[in-house]
Amino acid sequence: MFLSRLGPTKLVVTNFKILRNYYTVKRKVIKDENYIARHISQKIKVKGPLTVADYMKEVLTNPLAGYYMHRDMFGESGDFVTSPEITQMFGEMLAVWFLNEWQKMGSPKPLQIVELGPGRGTLSNDILKVFNHFNALHSASLHLVEVSPVLSDLQAKLLCPQTNLCDDTSAVYRKGISRHGNPVYWYKQLSDVPYKFTLIIAHEFFDALPIHKFHKTYNGYREVLIDIDLSDKKAAEPRFRYVVARQPTPMLKVLVKPNESRDHVEVSPDSLLIYRQMCKRIKSSGGIALICDYGHDGTGTDTFRAFKKHNQVDPLLMPGSADLTADVDFSLIKEVANEEGGIITLGPTTQRNFLLKTGLPYRFKTLAKNTKDKHLENLTECYKFLTDEDKMGERFKFCALFPETIKKILNKCPVVGFT
Ligand SMILES: C[S@@+](CC[C@H](N)C(=O)[O-])C[C@H]1O[C@@H](n2cnc3c(N)ncnc32)[C@H](O)[C@@H]1O
Repeated sequence: MFLSRLGPTKLVVTNFKILRNYYTVKRKVIKDENYIARHISQKIKVKGPLTVADYMKEVLTNPLAGYYMHRDMFGESGDFVTSPEITQMFGEMLAVWFLNEWQKMGSPKPLQIVELGPGRGTLSNDILKVFNHFNALHSASLHLVEVSPVLSDLQAKLLCPQTNLCDDTSAVYRKGISRHGNPVYWYKQLSDVPYKFTLIIAHEFFDALPIHKFHKTYNGYREVLIDIDLSDKKAAEPRFRYVVARQPTPMLKVLVKPNESRDHVEVSPDSLLIYRQMCKRIKSSGGIALICDYGHDGTGTDTFRAFKKHNQVDPLLMPGSADLTADVDFSLIKEVANEEGGIITLGPTTQRNFLLKTGLPYRFKTLAKNTKDKHLENLTECYKFLTDEDKMGERFKFCALFPETIKKILNKCPVVGFT
């Protein structure tokens, strides 16, 4: 039994098991569970209360003990499960969608596939398999943007028979050749990936990026900060609490719009930067981006939360031991694209709509024909999990970016999954 990261309401899945197998990587982990709490507490003592963004950055990607840096958090024994980890059908549908749209654009070459935050590498692996099946992999390369050393190990083991670590002076920190013969490169940031025609996939990536949090008060908006909680004098380890900044902070002035009216506002400046980089890249070198995540269209409010062992937990308790996440604001992707110009944005549409229109029901039927008994039950549960309205079908949203130069083609043959 496990719970998925599906928002504040807990979702229990009892009828199916994840059947996919993975390598495991053992690495020296900092044993002190309270390292991050002490580190954050020291930082607050020196600098004053932290923004939620600074707190998230420390908790998730602190090089010594950050949540993403030293563990495999996926699957039943981990903290959450993602769609590509549930069934190969998910990656296959995304691959078929990309192939179809790329062919509509005249199959430009050389082709780069970029995945932001590839987790275990499962989605990229499934995409490469489909591209290879359709003989579309000649001269294609895979570029993975990943900060976690442990996850990059897992990705390398899954994708390539062998990889080499590169020296610190290079933007590429690891490289190898995939099982299908394609070059694979690892980077810490998207801006280091070469400018060429690119298919970009970001699945559950932007919800992991730090957000600033603002709260509407009688004096207008104020930033929510994180301070040390001294109320329990006997607590052996540092505790934290939310406080509201007395004065406007620099980020408040930049990130909250004058016409804002929500009680709580969350904005991720790191995400805004990457949306802009994606737009610039697509405009100048061509490409398509597909962003899939928990999210809203500018209406979401208080979505900052933590997940541990498939349960929602307090984000301020035992920092570093649970995943932190906040819903993606898809309206900001459109806003950035409009500012940049030359970009068509589609969506957000629901995962259910996208997968049904892309042909998931046909793929399911084909697989089901050759599957029996418990495996068939499991496959059916996986299908429902991806598409049911009370599971990932509705809460998960898809948004796509295309260059405006292909507007005429898209008018004739609309993008699949977004009608
Ligand atoms: C929630 S996991 C999603 C994994 C995968 N896309 C999936 O759906 O199974 C987030 C991924 O983003 C990576 N990540 C988090 N913050 C990052 C950052 N600032 N830059 C690059 N990768 C990051 C994590 O290490 C992890 O691989």
